[in-house]
Amino acid sequence: MSKEARLVVVSNRVGPLSDEGKAGGLAVGLADALRRRGGLWFGWSGETSEAGTDSQAKTETEGEVKLVTIDMTEDQVAGFYLGYANRSLWPLLHYRLDLARFERETDRTYRAVNREFARRLMEFVSEDDLVWVHDYHFFYLGEELRRLGFKGRLGFFLHIPFSPPEMLAALPGANDLVGAMLAYDLVGFQTMTDRRNFANYCKHELHGQKQPNDRVRVGDRVIEAKVFPIGIDAESFAEFAASEEAEEHAAMLRSNVGRSLPIVGVDRLDYSKGIIERLLGFERLLENYPERVGTVQFLQVAPLSRSEVEEYVDLRGEFEGLVGRINGRFAALDWTPVHIMTTGLTRRALAGIYRAARVCMVTPLRDGMNLVAKEFVAAQDEADPGVLILSRFAGARSELGEALIVNPFATDEMAAALERALTMPLEERQRRWRAMRDKVFANTAAEWCRKFIEALEDAGREDGDRPAD
Ligand code: G6P
Repeated sequence: MSKEARLVVVSNRVGPLSDEGKAGGLAVGLADALRRRGGLWFGWSGETSEAGTDSQAKTETEGEVKLVTIDMTEDQVAGFYLGYANRSLWPLLHYRLDLARFERETDRTYRAVNREFARRLMEFVSEDDLVWVHDYHFFYLGEELRRLGFKGRLGFFLHIPFSPPEMLAALPGANDLVGAMLAYDLVGFQTMTDRRNFANYCKHELHGQKQPNDRVRVGDRVIEAKVFPIGIDAESFAEFAASEEAEEHAAMLRSNVGRSLPIVGVDRLDYSKGIIERLLGFERLLENYPERVGTVQFLQVAPLSRSEVEEYVDLRGEFEGLVGRINGRFAALDWTPVHIMTTGLTRRALAGIYRAARVCMVTPLRDGMNLVAKEFVAAQDEADPGVLILSRFAGARSELGEALIVNPFATDEMAAALERALTMPLEERQRRWRAMRDKVFANTAAEWCRKFIEALEDAGREDGDRPAD
């Protein structure tokens, strides 16, 4: 296969290709990669219609990249996206068995939607293409493409964690789901832990074997399972942080906090992000270090997400209640400890907020990578860098060990890390930041993409062990 093979990306959300939007981590990483290589990006239009996945495909062309999307019916969205993807798989893969809901109907719709997307995709692909499927919405898509006769290279990357086999086994049909992953030639994970959990599932639940060179065998199938930690487009993010829009937002934040030191958090409002635990850590700071009252301010930017899903509605209530409690308890006439914003911000505005922040708290209870941590690092100014407080449960922790690493469940530890960050001497802040900056600028989104594609082109090469048809 030539190195020039066209790249076909499949993901639930498609675009925007421009970095200006309010895109989540996945879109940002992929847009960068596709812009550099060119290709086709296929997924959901974000709209519902009566025809659903049978709807006429919508095509947009931006430079070398073609975006092709199809609709879903309301029932498809309810079963596939809101139901199985976000009430079964998302909590389960984030180690939240307590929040996971399993229903036969949503499982059925999820598989059917994967089948439909595969069928529609066949209209646009040829065997010379490299097909790269993304994330937990499309575990079965590769298997369905194979069933329809697709013989080209097929890769899959999971952007979120892969939970341990003991937990994943609770999913009805877990063997089907992991078995379907074996239709890909290459499956990629964010961290060694995720990869190990997958290989262990294959070994213990599917009677497979771990083999040398990152291979996993189950029956006759041998596939590669590798680690590819995702990065950001660090150069552009650093440029955003130096833009006028960023400076305006930095100035607004500074004038808003007055004499206080700004601490920020930026996350989709999601229970995996540890926003509640972070607020409790901030509250404990005010309790344990009373001299901090009136001298720090916490800003949480939390764009609302998946608002039709019950667990997210509950979280919003809990979040707003806790902010109210902390403010009610500590506020003075001229000082409010916690500010929250649930509207999205442009990436330039965010970059400005990161730059003006003294501390950024990235404290997920479990996270695939977490690109906020990397964006915060890229946005800092060498003369006066802020401090990153990072959860030990974020994928980014394996690269960004110079952050202050915390256990988000340990409230006193979070308060102590905050105090340490607020008093950290400039020289130490610079030393830690430089080490992280080097990694963020070296392992970019483009590098991540290049490595995955290279591995996909080479998958199974050495012994000609191509997938069975
Ligand atoms: C995570 C997932 C992405 C998803 C994004 C936003 O980053 O890995 O696949 O697109 O969250 O969530 P949403 O449900 O709004 O697409």
